[in-house]
Amino acid sequence: MSKLQFKDKWILITGASSGLGEEMARQLAHQHKANLVLLARRKEKLDQLKTELEKEADVSVKVVVADLSDLNEVDKALDEILSDGQLYGAILNAGVTYFGRHVDLTWEQFQIMLQTNVVSVVRMTNRLVNHFETSGNEGGVLIVSSMAALFPVPYQSAYSGTKAFILSFATALTHEIKNPRFSLSIYAPGGIVTEMTAGDNFHDLQGWLMPVKQAANEGIYAFQTRKGIYVPGVLNRVGGFFMNLMPKSFITGKMSKVYEKALIKAGAKDK
Ligand SMILES: NC(=O)c1ccc[n+]([C@@H]2O[C@H](COP(=O)([O-])OP(=O)(O)OC[C@H]3O[C@@H](n4cnc5c(N)ncnc54)[C@H](OP(=O)(O)O)[C@@H]3O)[C@@H](O)[C@H]2O)c1
Repeated sequence: MSKLQFKDKWILITGASSGLGEEMARQLAHQHKANLVLLARRKEKLDQLKTELEKEADVSVKVVVADLSDLNEVDKALDEILSDGQLYGAILNAGVTYFGRHVDLTWEQFQIMLQTNVVSVVRMTNRLVNHFETSGNEGGVLIVSSMAALFPVPYQSAYSGTKAFILSFATALTHEIKNPRFSLSIYAPGGIVTEMTAGDNFHDLQGWLMPVKQAANEGIYAFQTRKGIYVPGVLNRVGGFFMNLMPKSFITGKMSKVYEKALIKAGAKDK
């Protein structure tokens, strides 16, 4: 299968108002000259990015404001995005986490996480796969999962579960696709420096995080070269290889200590 070519093509990025999505938008515009559909809830941030990229990268940008935790808004956004038949690719990146004891996660927070990280991703993937299967068009979808899907993270238990769901779902679905010009890829980064990891709870873990520029660059590489599952960073890949040789309970126990320590330190700072 040949590489995806983004120049002058329309690419949807969800969660484009900050972090990984925002940086992928910048790199796709500047380095690949792609036209972009930027989706998130914060309109002013998307409008700013649109103005910047249209001026500095000379590409076309559309803004779609939608709350992906609401299925009606997911459908409405997709109706609009797919209406002209021009979409070439999509990066399903929007996501939320909760870092703390699972017993302290409210049911409402859990439902929002489930709707955003799982339900909206499945709904969008269904519609996008259908679009490419029926049209036979060339294109691709990149689903942003996490290394937490491969090695579940204590104190982000529900988040790890959401990321494992989409990894498992997309990995299996890849093998149902009949359009030889369409690819479904999964991106599984470790920690990244973004708004998601900016809070006090993550303070002690900053040394483990990857710069967002590198994470975006490797994500676009995985998307363009139509990888199945891709983990960025040599250290993450080598670490993952060795971690796979050890009992999962041992690895999860070690991670539990590191994350619990970070939480205790953050709590102590609050007081
Ligand atoms: N940071 C990490 O360490 C890390 C590691 C592995 C994987 N990831 C994954 O990478 C992806 C991007 O995260 P990030 O680190 O870049 O975090 P981020 O900076 O917090 O960005 C999250 C993005 O998702 C959007 N979003 C959140 N809830 C939404 C909703 N209900 N509807 C629409 N958009 C919503 C946010 O936009 P609005 O607030 O404007 O809606 C924002 O643009 C996530 O899927 C995350 O799980 C992150």
